[in-house]
Amino acid sequence: MEKFNIAIDGPAGAGKSTIARLVAGNLGFVYVDTGAMYRAVTWKILDEGLGDEQTAEMIALTKRTDIRLTPGENGQTVFVDGRDVTGLIRSAEVTGNVSRVSSIGEIREVLTRKQKEMAAGKGVVMDGRDIGSHVLPNAEVKVFLTASVRIRAERRLREIADTQPDVSLEQLMQDIAERDRMDEQREVSPLKRAPDAVLIDTTEMTIPEVVDRILELCKSRIGGGK
Ligand code: CDP
Ligand code: CDP
Repeated sequence: MEKFNIAIDGPAGAGKSTIARLVAGNLGFVYVDTGAMYRAVTWKILDEGLGDEQTAEMIALTKRTDIRLTPGENGQTVFVDGRDVTGLIRSAEVTGNVSRVSSIGEIREVLTRKQKEMAAGKGVVMDGRDIGSHVLPNAEVKVFLTASVRIRAERRLREIADTQPDVSLEQLMQDIAERDRMDEQREVSPLKRAPDAVLIDTTEMTIPEVVDRILELCKSRIGGGK
């Protein structure tokens, strides 16, 4: 079967990266986690100690920072200027700052350009917030994953139960709702379902059910299997 691109967007905790990785594995495609790229830039900005108001410095830093994604044992390994930051970019500090950084238009332009290059050869499953609407408007398959705020917070709580036992469900629900709000309301490429993206509400779906649904969609859009 010819290669094509799949765009998967949606809010935090909807299951994008889990599902995108499995779909990519099934089709033999490359998975690209664009949220990891925004997190990598945010980590670098915090590491350099740049303040909220230093927007010009943040943009310059983004332009000269080398971000690489490579398939790793547990998903994607992320390198910033050669350093493995895979674990560091998931910290609460990065999560708390990433939506502010990703609202800066020039930073989005730099990362969008890289993302378009990564998908140019097709055979890519890319997940994020603006992939179907902005980065890959011509993606052959577009999916918008969503789920209730409560279930998304419950999923996150399960993930961090061992490492951050003090965080409550209420706190996570608040954090997720706030990040959704910032991502949906920013001026540049906000989180929005592209008109031609298929909406899948995963609130009551298992991971294999969602993966199957997307693979079916690929078959019906593209025709044929592997
Ligand atoms: O995995 P999680 O849903 O927590 O978020 P993520 O996919 O790692 O994305 C982190 C943040 O990066 C989002 O909350 C957005 O602010 C930003 N982002 C974006 O603006 N555009 C994208 N294409 C991907 C992520
Ligand atoms: O990338 P995004 O933030 O959209 O979500 P994720 O990190 O892929 O998924 C968040 C958590 O929800 C993971 O622990 C998944 O295993 C879980 N999940 C689930 O339980 N049921 C689904 N249908 C989808 C994801």
